[in-house]
Amino acid sequence: MKKIKINISEGIKFPHPYILKSRILEIPVNMEKGAEVTLINKQGKIVGTGFYNPDTYKTVRIHTYGEVKFLDYKEIEKRIKKAFKKRKEFFNEEESFRLIFSESDLLTGLIIDKIGKGFVIQINSAGMEKKREFIIKALKEIFEPEFIYEKSDSFARKEEGLENFKKLLFGNFKNPCEIFTEGLYFLVDIENGQKTGFFLDQKSNRLEMAKYAKGKVCLDLFSYTGAFSIHFLKNGAEKVFAIDISERALKLLKENTRINNLDERKLTVIEGDVFEKLREIKQWKIEFDLIINDPPSFTHKKRKKENALKGYKNLHSEIFDILKGKGILATFSCTHAIDIKDLIETISGVQKSRDFVIGLKKFLFQSPCHPIVFYFPESFYLKGVVLSKD
Ligand SMILES: C[S@@+](CC[C@H](N)C(=O)[O-])C[C@H]1O[C@@H](n2cnc3c(N)ncnc32)[C@H](O)[C@@H]1O
Repeated sequence: MKKIKINISEGIKFPHPYILKSRILEIPVNMEKGAEVTLINKQGKIVGTGFYNPDTYKTVRIHTYGEVKFLDYKEIEKRIKKAFKKRKEFFNEEESFRLIFSESDLLTGLIIDKIGKGFVIQINSAGMEKKREFIIKALKEIFEPEFIYEKSDSFARKEEGLENFKKLLFGNFKNPCEIFTEGLYFLVDIENGQKTGFFLDQKSNRLEMAKYAKGKVCLDLFSYTGAFSIHFLKNGAEKVFAIDISERALKLLKENTRINNLDERKLTVIEGDVFEKLREIKQWKIEFDLIINDPPSFTHKKRKKENALKGYKNLHSEIFDILKGKGILATFSCTHAIDIKDLIETISGVQKSRDFVIGLKKFLFQSPCHPIVFYFPESFYLKGVVLSKD
């Protein structure tokens, strides 16, 4: 395996897995895109092994720390099994969950979601692109799945100079696919839905927030296919309003109500832009006991953070206008550039001009099938707070 010398302090055992071009000191000639390389520090000590890609500023992506190791079939199978074991500490095997969360599972550039009895995979690095056959083989051997679908259509692929595509790799499934998870049925549009079809990162938070729903008037902002809404209805909510811009997602939300035998009359689905609809709702003079705010990422760029925070503050200001006294709001940010401190500061900015007290009841994070690791701070991306209006 060829060696790349990098500028890294001796004693650092777990550097960030992306070795940027600017940190590379020596590089062998004629190295193929996606090749595996050994990383050494200035003293010649081994830092780890990774994938090389000259087409991106993330020139090496580490997949192994402290040793030289090829990701051959056995190693990929071993890492998938290890990740599965970790998930089983939290989830029943029949459930749907994220099986592989890229750098967190030391499989950089690989996402695998278990969706019902099959898998949806996404490959986001040139090196992992070369491991596709091993990945498919390992999934077949370990799980005997009904299907494996590849949905490699991300911005990350563009960065790596890879074409976007989606394709059935193995078996068969009916789209949308019906899954049973957290005690409820959901239809998942694998082919045309967002991400891999279902937001598995909110699994644990849906169960947590459902505890507040009994007898309550709830509002599910940015609802997608309404997984929060369905949990609220199941837990005895008096009424649920769901808003999303995607007609396709809302259609599935209605079907999700039906397949769970829930009372459709308790659900009001509103298609449109949340920012506009919130202003309309204010005119209706309804107040909500429980609100979920789960917007998409506001920006991928750090330099656009200030604007994103302004938008975030306005959004919260509108939300507090329609939250009933003693009501509960769970608000989330999946924007990398916005951390938990920014989230709290935004809320305190809203508090300053109000005549009620906003209390913090609880912090929420991404579901444990998206493990957070400290060598890769970006792995901590979903931040949430449960707030009360007193
Ligand atoms: C993070 S997802 C929400 C996931 C959802 N809470 C769940 O548990 O499945 C964000 C959603 O926001 C929707 N969206 C994006 N921009 C929007 C806007 N301006 N107004 C309304 N919905 C929007 C997207 O269609 C997507 O369904």
